[in-house]
Amino acid sequence: MIVCICHRVSDRIIRDAAQQGASFEELQAMHGVATRCGRCESCARALWSSSRGGGPMTCPPMQAHHPPFAMPC
Ligand code: FES
Repeated sequence: MIVCICHRVSDRIIRDAAQQGASFEELQAMHGVATRCGRCESCARALWSSSRGGGPMTCPPMQAHHPPFAMPC
């Protein structure tokens, strides 16, 4: 699943980076997640946190972040 549409960052990329010990800021520097429109930030942070053992991920569906008629970045 693509989490960050602006930079085409998937949940797998976020999970892998978190499990390899990357901070959220390092993830942003490496892949640009949540550095453009910012709509993905809450979901990306929740995914990153849950991948580092921060509890279950509670992320709304992608449509909640990107309504079908939203302007692309
Ligand atoms: S969707 Fe991630 S910065 Fe826009």
